[in-house]
Amino acid sequence: MIEDGKYSVLFVCLGNICRSPAAQAVFQRMVDERGLTDRFYIDSAGIGGWHIGDLPDKRMRVHARPRGYELTHRARIVHFSDFEDFDLIVGMDATNVDDLRCKAATPEQERKVVMMGDYIRQFPHHDYVPDPYYEGSEGFELVLDLLEDACDNLLDRIIEQNNISK
Ligand code: 4NP
Repeated sequence: MIEDGKYSVLFVCLGNICRSPAAQAVFQRMVDERGLTDRFYIDSAGIGGWHIGDLPDKRMRVHARPRGYELTHRARIVHFSDFEDFDLIVGMDATNVDDLRCKAATPEQERKVVMMGDYIRQFPHHDYVPDPYYEGSEGFELVLDLLEDACDNLLDRIIEQNNISK
């Protein structure tokens, strides 16, 4: 538990410079718009440590800005303590989820790991959030489309399952 009374969510991708910092910003805005800012602690991290301390990838920031997201997170790696501290850990694809479950120390920690793709509703041909790093502009726009859809559903589920209210 990060802070008493707050539900904590950690978004995780491979590098923590494209998908997960975008997910963090999208989810944070939805939480804020619902007046639930004080009820959540939201962060993101990467499986790999190549970009520790870096701002999100310039391309991700450029695509996120017109939608109203300023990505200011600084990349960090997933720590073993995250499995104790966070209530929910959300991987972007099946590899992220496998890597996270391998790092979990107990079955209870393993059960905290879910996949963002399972919350996608409006894009029937997508069941995970694909890595845009080697893609063009469409890849980054797709990530944002999928995240806006999935985060809304994820937030509904969290609120429902944990009786969270203003
Ligand atoms: P992300 O994208 O996992 O969405 O942050 C990547 C960023 C960097 C690398 C791979 C994926 N990389 O290999 O450096």
